[in-house]
Amino acid sequence: MSNRYNIAVVPGDGIGLEITPITESVVRAALEPSGGTIETVEFPFGAGHYKKHGAFMPPDGLDILRPFDAILFGAVGLPDVDDTLPAKNFTFKVRCGLRQYVNYRPCKRYAAPPGPLRSDADFDFVIIRENNEGEFVQSGSEHHLDSAEGFATQISVFTRKGITQVARYSFGLAQRRRGKLTNVTKSNTLIHSMIGDILSDLGGALVGSLGLAPSGNINPEREFPSMFEPIHGSAPDIAGQGIANPIGSIESGALMLEHLGEQDAAERIRSAVAAVLSQKIGTPDLGGTATTSQIGKAVIERL
Ligand code: NAI
Ligand code: MG
Repeated sequence: MSNRYNIAVVPGDGIGLEITPITESVVRAALEPSGGTIETVEFPFGAGHYKKHGAFMPPDGLDILRPFDAILFGAVGLPDVDDTLPAKNFTFKVRCGLRQYVNYRPCKRYAAPPGPLRSDADFDFVIIRENNEGEFVQSGSEHHLDSAEGFATQISVFTRKGITQVARYSFGLAQRRRGKLTNVTKSNTLIHSMIGDILSDLGGALVGSLGLAPSGNINPEREFPSMFEPIHGSAPDIAGQGIANPIGSIESGALMLEHLGEQDAAERIRSAVAAVLSQKIGTPDLGGTATTSQIGKAVIERL
């Protein structure tokens, strides 16, 4: 296998534009000792694209992404764009269109836990969220919302095939870890009634900040590229200030490398991040004063 990878980079909107280029540099630096390289093509898909062209990505967006080895994604969404659109018109489209039916979200305690939580309890768990079915089929509707009789319906679809394949993946992962698997049912990101990623957002908080948590949208059969992104959104409240925590994105880069078979490079990133955090260098969400690019530089220096 050649260790040269074609990566589609979709920074998206808001802080996605600030953190994703940093991850790109970190991934390059991490691959160097193994003689690996990435060739990247950047795509300006997202809410900004929607404002200019009326769509989050071109009609053949999935065809454009399909030939890549992996997709590095930031986040999409802007305050002046209808907030039901980013998921519907980009994220769900890619996750379903490229059969990324496993949403992989690891939560692991850093040796020196950053952030306000001071826990001595060790934890290391992975949340696997089914990523294509359930509420993600986006079936439902809203009626008479301007009256007291207003109501919404949200229909969840579960197929035998969909449940079987994600269960198989999860049992397989549990077997390679500690042999423990917990089945949790919860409502996922809903378009017509409301609730989001409570478990994995709290998982991120447990690690120290939402800004630290990575994720992968994985097509285990590798028929299509998998997509790697921090679990957070485009954070319009801090966008443009250069203070977003890039670590969730950087750790997503490590997941991407692992998926590509570059285990050593992935571990190099994880050690470098852990070393930076143990020196109490952090962005404001961790109580620190470092900027996004200072964290990026610090990680690359350690690499
Ligand atoms: P969010 O995750 O963008 O922000 C929630 C809070 O966490 C904010 O206070 C933000 O400043 C903070 N935060 C998030 N990431 C951070 C980081 N790396 N460093 C420091 N602080 C960080 O969620 P919110 O506000 O609900 O959504 C904002 C926009 O993002 C919306 O348009 C939403 O649709 C979109 N979104 C996109 C996602 C995606 O593209 N996969 C996922 C979640 C939300
Ligand atoms: Mg989320």
